[in-house]
Amino acid sequence: MKQVQDAVVDMYEKLPVPYGLVRFGVAPDHPEVKNCQDTFEEVAASPRFNYIGNVEVGTTLALSDLKPHYDAILFAYGASEDRRLGIPGEDLPGVYSAREFVGWYNGHPQFAHLKPELDQGECAVIVGHGNVALDVARILVSPLAQLRKTDIADHAVAALARSTITRVEVVGRRGPLQASYTVKEARELMQFDRVGFESAGLHKFYPENTKTLPRVQQRLADVLLKGSPVKAHDYKKRWQLSFMQSPHAMHVKKNRFGEPIGDRVHSIDFQKTEFVPGADPMSKDARVQLTDEIVTSEASMVFRSIGYKSTPLPGLSDLGVPFDERLGIIPNDAHGRVISPSAGPGNLSAGHLPGLYAVGWVKRGPTGVIVSTMMDAFTTADVIVQDWSASSPFLNGEKGRSASTGLGWDGVKDSVVAQGVTPVDWEAWKRIDKAERERGKEKGKVRLKFVDEEEMKVAAGLA
Ligand SMILES: Cc1cc2nc3c(=O)[nH]c(=O)nc-3n(C[C@H](O)[C@H](O)[C@H](O)COP(=O)(O)OP(=O)(O)OC[C@H]3O[C@@H](n4cnc5c(N)ncnc54)[C@H](O)[C@@H]3O)c2cc1C
Ligand SMILES: NC(=O)c1ccc[n+]([C@@H]2O[C@H](COP(=O)([O-])OP(=O)(O)OC[C@H]3O[C@@H](n4cnc5c(N)ncnc54)[C@H](OP(=O)(O)O)[C@@H]3O)[C@@H](O)[C@H]2O)c1
Repeated sequence: MKQVQDAVVDMYEKLPVPYGLVRFGVAPDHPEVKNCQDTFEEVAASPRFNYIGNVEVGTTLALSDLKPHYDAILFAYGASEDRRLGIPGEDLPGVYSAREFVGWYNGHPQFAHLKPELDQGECAVIVGHGNVALDVARILVSPLAQLRKTDIADHAVAALARSTITRVEVVGRRGPLQASYTVKEARELMQFDRVGFESAGLHKFYPENTKTLPRVQQRLADVLLKGSPVKAHDYKKRWQLSFMQSPHAMHVKKNRFGEPIGDRVHSIDFQKTEFVPGADPMSKDARVQLTDEIVTSEASMVFRSIGYKSTPLPGLSDLGVPFDERLGIIPNDAHGRVISPSAGPGNLSAGHLPGLYAVGWVKRGPTGVIVSTMMDAFTTADVIVQDWSASSPFLNGEKGRSASTGLGWDGVKDSVVAQGVTPVDWEAWKRIDKAERERGKEKGKVRLKFVDEEEMKVAAGLA
């Protein structure tokens, strides 16, 4: 909008409320991270921007119906699934994906009814060594008094108050120098009054002098090696990092005859790993291979936190857009132009599908923090402007800009409303926002989110 003075942008969101993972992913005890919403407020204030919430593209609104009314479509729909481990026992009761659990404590309508059983035992195992894994660990061991003040969902506070989990083991398949969590998140877990930290054999992964490591890894090493000041006899809860273990199978409890007792998860087996021959164990990219050694952890709950996954939007292929199932992305030229590898030989942009662009996790895969996602968005916006300025073909024919009806949302609104769907515009979202803040104030919280879509619509004055 800044660079093309007459550009109008319609943003479709499947939920009534905006902000994606900033609202439903970022941990409730990290409110400062959500300040990026202020920047978005400024964008939304433009009369050339329209927020259209509660409209799911691909289902409520077919891509082929959108196409005639726009010059360009930008895919920014993130990663709404997660990777699976593909091991026996993964679907046992008591096993959750971190994505579901995060959505649950953040009040995502889809996961409000998850009811994770936090009171079935003492040990939780989290598989994966990324920041999402540490977010989950922190929520499990955080003092409730601290969490209550955040915008965490009320149902999560109630369930965490009943939690019997006192031991959280976070297991990675490689070593600490290959972990993808960051120093701030590790440090936070060392700072709780009554939470201890254990990690047997951590020293063996590091050089004698950690100052020889690259700066980022050195800072993380310092935090992990220093550990928590909480002494064992002061532990109420403890968390542990385990390394070089790849998940192998999950099991229910068995009696002494080997017969199953109950149906929920009770333990998880890991296959120990070792660095592949020739790998440099100090390198972030060092690869590992499986050994024959199995170790078992007790687990009354297991969280798999091994990454999110994008999926193809229904109807993508109607626009000739391919989907890379392996990488979980819409193929693009790295700047954000959607490409069809079969559409043209030669350089990448030869296969550019006119008028189609991608950004964020569906463009790059499910990694990257808000800042990197924003930088990536600026790049994609720049290439759209570049293509527009160069009079490149856009949607709806070779001539591009004049070929679309130019109606945008007005061209499809009637068909959406005729399905009984109530679109939520920016003013309606602001009413939801205000109601959430007021509800929160009464409870000493920054906001109390609505977790039910109907409640959101009522607060918006739309139901
Ligand atoms: C648990 C978690 C915690 C995180 N914490 C931090 C943090 O503390 N700090 C940090 O910097 N980064 C954090 N990140 C990373 C950050 O959230 C991402 O980099 C960023 O949100 C990715 O943006 P995106 O626009 O690609 O996807 P999203 O934020 O997921 O946005 C995609 C949007 O598209 C909508 N959508 C999906 N399908 C459709 C459809 N068919 N029609 C219409 N709308 C649709 C979704 O509802 C969603 O609102 C975290 C990520 C996770 C998973
Ligand atoms: N506070 C924050 O800033 C914050 C909070 C949350 C999320 N985020 C960001 O959001 C992005 C996503 O985070 P994430 O934690 O979901 O993903 P991630 O950083 O990619 O971490 C995924 C973890 O899962 C492991 N893994 C993958 N497949 C596995 C398998 N089959 N078996 C065992 N382990 C497996 C990976 O190990 P390998 O390395 O061996 O593959 C890695 O340790 C990241 O960029 C993250 O920084 C940021």
